This record gives sequence, structure tokens and C-alpha cells, in this order.
Amino acid sequence: MGIMSRTPLIAGNWKMNLDHLQAIATVQKLAWTLKDARHDFDDVEVAVFPPFTDLRSVQTLISADKLPIRFGGQDVSRYASGAYTGEISGAFLAALDAAYVIVGHSERRMMHAETDQIVAEKTAAAVQHGVVPVVCVGETSEDRESRGAGVVPVEQLQVVLDAVQPAEIVVAYEPVWAIGSGQAATPDQAQEDCGALRRAIAGAWGDEAATATRVLYGGSVKSGNIAGFMREPDIDGALVGGASLDVAEFAAIARFRQHVGL
Ligand code: PGA
Repeated sequence: MGIMSRTPLIAGNWKMNLDHLQAIATVQKLAWTLKDARHDFDDVEVAVFPPFTDLRSVQTLISADKLPIRFGGQDVSRYASGAYTGEISGAFLAALDAAYVIVGHSERRMMHAETDQIVAEKTAAAVQHGVVPVVCVGETSEDRESRGAGVVPVEQLQVVLDAVQPAEIVVAYEPVWAIGSGQAATPDQAQEDCGALRRAIAGAWGDEAATATRVLYGGSVKSGNIAGFMREPDIDGALVGGASLDVAEFAAIARFRQHVGL
């Protein structure tokens, strides 16, 4: 795991699952499960990323019950406001106390034609509104074979780093073949790429930013494989999709120190 100054982040990307009523039940259950297990949220941060229609309900629950769980959106508009039907402003996320927002998830890059430039603009919009962007980058197995490990994700991140002034961001390395496939990258592969991403941050924003920035691994993370990733020096947490919908499993991932002795 990364040096102690970086608090590990276990982030649950629900994708298009769970409506607002299911969201309330899920967050409540997650909070109880982690509380029962005496989870130290200052030691390992836990965040959920529900669909937009759930966010107000999740915010209300978290603030009323003072739950130590953080939350974010799954996407954000490049624009602050205006005639952009269907878009959600970073200002709206900030007004809901969203701590984070995912930008550039590979599903959006592929299905919504989000380019590196758009991802950079969305990152800038999130930063501008005080919401920490979780910038997703990734590569296909062909990219990795033909271009080399980490080359494509570093190129994707470089566009963001060049366009945005140094700020708090989280980077998530998610190899496309590993997402939702049950075939996670190996810890070695993930470390190779996460290390390359951290070096890119150092090159663009300086060593201090590189040391402070959390780099997550994502792609078929489960309680059974989180340990291997968290032992790597440049992996500071996980972006969890499918397994984040199962409260017991997600809580076990968040509690990686207990079952791996880290
Ligand atoms: P997965 O998804 O954990 O279901 O592989 C990860 C992600 O897409 O963020």
C-alpha cells in the first residue's frame, strides 16, 4: 500500500443499479455492517457512487444519521449551467455535499464517445466546483500488448494533467478487460501502470502532487483479491463496480487490513 500520508479510498461505483429506495437501504446496511465491525473510517475511507436520482436521498440519510460514508456522482457536465438537457452541473453536486465525482469511466468513453479532451474539461469543471474528480483511465489488452504497459492510460491522464492546474484529484486505473469480467489484473500489472501514472503526475504537477494523489485500481476487485492490490506501493485503494452492490462483500473489501494484516 501507498505511504501512510495517503488515506486508502474504497469507492463503490454502483453504475446504473439501485433506485433511491434501494440506495437508502444499501447505505444504511453498509453503515451498520462497518460500524458493527468497528471500521475506522479515518484509516480507510469509504465512498459510494449512486445514480443521480439517488443522490439527494443518500445525502439526506448520511447527514441526518451523521454516517461517516462519503458519496459522489458518476459523471459531471463540462459546463456550469445552461441549455444542456440531461446534464448535471458540478455546482449541483457540490450543493448536495458530494465529495467526489467519477469522470471518464471507460463505459462513458466507449458508449458516450467521451474523448480525453472532454474528460479533461469535466475534471476541470469538478475541481472548479470543489468536487474531487475520480479520473478514470485504462487500456485494452491490445493497447497493452502493442503500445506497452501503461502507455495508453498515461496518455489519457497526460491530457488532463496538461489542461488542469494542480488540484486534489483521484486517479483510477481500470484496464478495460478487467471491468466486469471477473478477470482482474494481477497486482504486478496494476502496480506497473499505477506507478507509471504517478510518475506522470510528478512530471506534470511535481513530486508533492504525485505523493499526495491517490491512485486506485479498478476491475473485478473482490474481497478475495483486494489484499494483493493494497500491498503494492502505488495502489491506494479500489474503484469497485459489481462487488459494491453486495454490502457484505463491499464492507469486506473496505476492511482489507483485517483480512490481510496490512
Ligand atoms: P467491476 O467494475 O468491479 O464490476 O469490474 C469496476 C468499474 O467499472 O469501476
